[in-house]
Amino acid sequence: MRVTVSELTRLATRILTAAGVSTSDAAAVADSLVRSNLLGHDSHGVRRLPGYLRQIHSGQIDPRAVPEAERTRAGSVVVHGRRAFGQLAAHRAVRELRETTAHTGSGIATIRDCNHVGRLGEYVETLAEHDLVGLAFGNADPTVAPHGGAERRLGTNPLAWAVPRAQDEPPIVMDWATSGVAEGKLAVARERGERIPEGLVLDRHGRATTDPGDFYTGGMLLPFGGHKGYGLSVLIEIVGGLLSGTGIGTGYRGGFGTVLLAFDVEAFLPRHEFRAHTERFCAELHDTANAEGHAEVLVPGEPEERTRRERERDGIPLSEAVWQELHALPRE
Ligand SMILES: NC(=O)c1ccc[n+]([C@@H]2O[C@H](COP(=O)([O-])OP(=O)(O)OC[C@H]3O[C@@H](n4cnc5c(N)ncnc54)[C@H](O)[C@@H]3O)[C@@H](O)[C@H]2O)c1
Repeated sequence: MRVTVSELTRLATRILTAAGVSTSDAAAVADSLVRSNLLGHDSHGVRRLPGYLRQIHSGQIDPRAVPEAERTRAGSVVVHGRRAFGQLAAHRAVRELRETTAHTGSGIATIRDCNHVGRLGEYVETLAEHDLVGLAFGNADPTVAPHGGAERRLGTNPLAWAVPRAQDEPPIVMDWATSGVAEGKLAVARERGERIPEGLVLDRHGRATTDPGDFYTGGMLLPFGGHKGYGLSVLIEIVGGLLSGTGIGTGYRGGFGTVLLAFDVEAFLPRHEFRAHTERFCAELHDTANAEGHAEVLVPGEPEERTRRERERDGIPLSEAVWQELHALPRE
């Protein structure tokens, strides 16, 4: 079935307000979730709502908490997430970075006591829409084995990075987990009864498997790209975990150790030149001869833009199971 953006946003907002979230915060969280669906990342969309409600009931999410910001020095901000929805804390960090970069040219924000922030790309995309280069990364609960290992030691540790293109083009947005597959996508594959490609998951005995269910019975994810993705994940774990206070290794205390960085290219070259060079480079990438089995070359962010246009026109596809699950939740 297909649902319009406004219908899904209304439903998500009503579910959140019934769970004790203020109308404006509920609308902001609902917008973030529905935007993930709109861009094709259903794993980070409204299917997260039942889990979020369980976290409200367990006390992990405080539905009334308001994140606060503390400037620790020029260009450095600590956002106290106060166990509010991670999306609200990340929105606050983005607002702080926009303000601080207006004075300092660059800024870094970390978020303490942060819950799941959802799709990391949203935050760097907003920074790039405001003429900034934005980076975001963070560590999460250990589900990934180190390269060569067969125990959970690292989070899926996503990294997102966005830069402005020409004025009338959406930014380039690179946004992915450093595991070969994001856990949410594994859950979707399991729900659909699909197999997954080899090299993404080990079972609990450390053996390669194509059954997504093996992850949920003590298995583990693998980093993408062997030692390369692993190295990136180690650094995200350390910087994300230590700067945000989430902790690392046996000291990991739960939550999402989020770090966001932003800088204004104007400190190095005029913005219009940056945009023009970037746009020209995108055109060169598009014009690249196609490799066998490929029909085109895209720039990061373009697959999501295409999905957005298609889903705005035809509605967001939702499985009957997710639709029923959402309608079984209390709503105002
Ligand atoms: N909050 C968390 O704890 C957490 C943890 C892990 C992942 N995530 C989120 O999960 C989402 C999905 O992550 P993922 O690892 O499955 O991402 P993915 O593998 O789907 O990769 C998405 C990225 O690759 C780009 N891309 C895809 N196909 C392309 C092509 N043909 N040419 C050029 N670029 C292309 C997209 O534009 C996008 O930037 C992300 O939004 C991530 O932030 C969140």
